[in-house]
Amino acid sequence: MKNSILVKSLLVFLTIMAFSACIEEKKKRVINFPQTDLSTENLIPKPMKMIATNGGFALDQFTAIYTSDNAGYEEVGKFLAEKIKGKTGLDIQVNVAEIPDMETVIYINRSDSLELNAPEAYQLYITLDSVILNSNTAEGAFRGIQTIRQLIPETRSDSLAAYPIWTIPTGKISDSPQFEYRGSMLDVARHFFSVEDVKKYIDLLAYYKYNVLHLHLTDDQGWRIEIKSWPLLTEVGGSTEVGGEAGGFYTQEEYKDIVAYAAERHMVIVPEVDMPGHTNAASVSYPVFNGTGITPELYEGTQVGKSTFATRKDTLYSFLDDVVGEIAAITPGPYFHIGGDESHVTKKKDYIYFVERVEKIVRKHGKRMIGWDEIGQAKMDSSSISQFWASKENALDAVAMGMKIIMSPATKAYLDMEYDTLSKHGLHWAAYIPTDSAYIWTPESYEGIPMENILGIEAPLWSETISDIGELEYLAFPRAIGYSELSWSIPENRDWENYKIRLANQAPFLDRMNVKYYPSPLIDWKKSKYSYKEIEKD
Ligand code: ACM
Repeated sequence: MKNSILVKSLLVFLTIMAFSACIEEKKKRVINFPQTDLSTENLIPKPMKMIATNGGFALDQFTAIYTSDNAGYEEVGKFLAEKIKGKTGLDIQVNVAEIPDMETVIYINRSDSLELNAPEAYQLYITLDSVILNSNTAEGAFRGIQTIRQLIPETRSDSLAAYPIWTIPTGKISDSPQFEYRGSMLDVARHFFSVEDVKKYIDLLAYYKYNVLHLHLTDDQGWRIEIKSWPLLTEVGGSTEVGGEAGGFYTQEEYKDIVAYAAERHMVIVPEVDMPGHTNAASVSYPVFNGTGITPELYEGTQVGKSTFATRKDTLYSFLDDVVGEIAAITPGPYFHIGGDESHVTKKKDYIYFVERVEKIVRKHGKRMIGWDEIGQAKMDSSSISQFWASKENALDAVAMGMKIIMSPATKAYLDMEYDTLSKHGLHWAAYIPTDSAYIWTPESYEGIPMENILGIEAPLWSETISDIGELEYLAFPRAIGYSELSWSIPENRDWENYKIRLANQAPFLDRMNVKYYPSPLIDWKKSKYSYKEIEKD
């Protein structure tokens, strides 16, 4: 009896000793970090509100991630753990059964707080021993973990601890997007880009809180998406590209793979079939649809405005019903883009007839139609969306029909415009767009488009002059980073002088991702392990 009391006391004593040792160890971990200031972090896009409390949360081998069990949250936690592993080498456990004493914790939590005023809104409370991320939806949590990723330093912090620590500054962030549609477009028709290239672009966009990738899947020079009921579209129409290279296309399985990859990053794919102009590749494959009785040749040049569908042929619309139907069936996002730009050889009344008929097909397949701003000349349903690229008058006509507008003015938002006269790639028919002029404009009050009609911003990347991922990155980065801030952050939080410091500090991330960005001389790029020149050599 006595013995067992003794043993029990001993056990309690040992437990207390062990516990105190843990507390001591934890205190040491808390005390030893460098001070950091949340308000001077290089976050892009800049969050709505930040309050710094000037301490440090230790991300280290004792950190664990816990998530609520609502749909999609555990996946967000696992995504964060994978990215932490890539950046720091730490193996962070997600939803392990018990929280051991020693751990600091990242909680990713579903919350009904009224402060979370949009599906993508999130709040981040960072204290010495926990990071609490609250959101209404898994999508909001996903945007929030991009902020956490950006707060983790590129290199370990100096500390007296015996193990590596990455210090995250303490404080509170409340954040929510200015616009619900934040996109980029990639033209895979003029030059084809592989599934891997598209996935890398998606990864980079997701880091900056984009939620849309628009794929320009068809044009005069190529048809890039398999349509099972019309196989020649890709067999013939997908066989070349600008410059006479081999072209290519996505099978439906590959397209679904891209869509799923985007969905894991809470992004949607917007498929575009450009018509009734820009249809040479379709008409080479099925000459019956151009109405001339002549089979055109495959086209490898870069001129526009020479092709059209025969818009008064009824059989055209059963063909388009198949095309739109097959693509809509494998596109979970709400949108379908019908192009509609530069139909210079289509008579205006035929163009209007065509767009109005195709809008009905798109709606029949359960999608919201998007078209380039020329569609404002037709009578459109107010649920359809106009993408303003060239004509303010067309965009205002769309506003008058109650339509939403996606802001992509070519003089400000076209990623394929040259930076300046020394640019290695790009065109300049709309403007030269250096890194500052891409950022310094106000979509909220541009060309008289009312703010309440603006769905969001999209930065299109046309591919006449680029044919591989390095060239794509040269034109897209750093400008795409600026568009993320224009579409996420409120105007009061946007300031070129402040932004350009935060942009300079993106270099270590871009280098680690092997992004061959344009090293704009306007930016004092932060030196990192690699210099741009070294990357260019490989
Ligand atoms: C366009 O640039 N043709 C929309």
